[in-house]
Amino acid sequence: MGVPATTVGITKRRTSPRRGSLKIRRLRSRDRFFWYSASDSDFCLINSNNSVPEQVNDYTFAPSDFRHELYPTTFPAGRVWPPRKVEDLVCAIGSENTDCVGNTCYNGNICEDLDCTHTLSDWKAATSDWEKYFELRMTEHRGVGVYTKRAFRQGTILGWYTGELKTVSSMEYSTNAYLMEIEIGELGPDTPLEPIPSIFIDGEQRGNWTRFINHSCAADCVFRIMRVGNTRIMAVEAIRDIPRGKELSVDYGQEYYGLTTKKICACGVPECISRKRARLEKAMEKKKAKGKEVKIGNVKRCSRVAPTILV
Ligand SMILES: C[S@@+](CC[C@H](N)C(=O)[O-])C[C@H]1O[C@@H](n2cnc3c(N)ncnc32)[C@H](O)[C@@H]1O
Ligand SMILES: [Zn+2]
Ligand SMILES: [Zn+2]
Repeated sequence: MGVPATTVGITKRRTSPRRGSLKIRRLRSRDRFFWYSASDSDFCLINSNNSVPEQVNDYTFAPSDFRHELYPTTFPAGRVWPPRKVEDLVCAIGSENTDCVGNTCYNGNICEDLDCTHTLSDWKAATSDWEKYFELRMTEHRGVGVYTKRAFRQGTILGWYTGELKTVSSMEYSTNAYLMEIEIGELGPDTPLEPIPSIFIDGEQRGNWTRFINHSCAADCVFRIMRVGNTRIMAVEAIRDIPRGKELSVDYGQEYYGLTTKKICACGVPECISRKRARLEKAMEKKKAKGKEVKIGNVKRCSRVAPTILV
């Protein structure tokens, strides 16, 4: 993922105090996201200047963006390239072939049938009712986050990351915080010796609820490559039991929130990398300060010695 984006232009609108109010239901049917304030559930927060992303539970792409891209080295001979449709680009032809999510999330079933008839359109329809399971809330320090409305067991697939499929080269200088890299073609070993062809799923302007999953240094979910029938997806999987009312989190990795990165993590867990960093920096400061004292001490000692030499 790239550099942080700011959540801008949000206006508070008073809604009826009851959650199930008509006004909220009407907002739910919109194609834009809305979220609750963390401190006051009477408020529904919606954006006034259209900077809230479009809610799209699908992959989209412009075939012309891929016109000049070379045939991926990880594609077997004879595939359609440049891609004309989503399935040409994110075809499941790698080692994830045993892990089809089936037709719907939350059921705990993984389909291992290589010739299954599961389809992306069924999956899209089955995952569009995410608001039954999750809600978006404004957090204090991390922008909008995703909260569970029911408990989930470890290993449950909770959703998939959607957005616009972009070439890596087109996003080279981007500061977009909603980019998810996904390999295309045959998947190699977990730690390939050389970079293998990949693309970005860009959720900045268009995406689904998973674009709001924040980072935690004690994450309870991972993004994992899986498939729906013969289409590759980046699934969100619970890696521990998650209670109702908990904020979902993933680990963005050391390059995003690490000991030497510019960005500071506000996940707040005791083992947080930025807390560790703060502790280390404090210890360094102390050492430095001590060093200065020692230096001053040395100078003092020198000055005591100096007269002796002078004498
Ligand atoms: C993919 S977005 C997550 C959704 C975002 N909170 C929003 O409101 O759209 C990633 C951005 O969320 C914020 N964020 C996520 N996790 C965070 C954390 N642990 N501490 C501070 N900011 C965080 C940062 O601004 C980060 O660049
Ligand atoms: Zn299947
Ligand atoms: Zn942290």
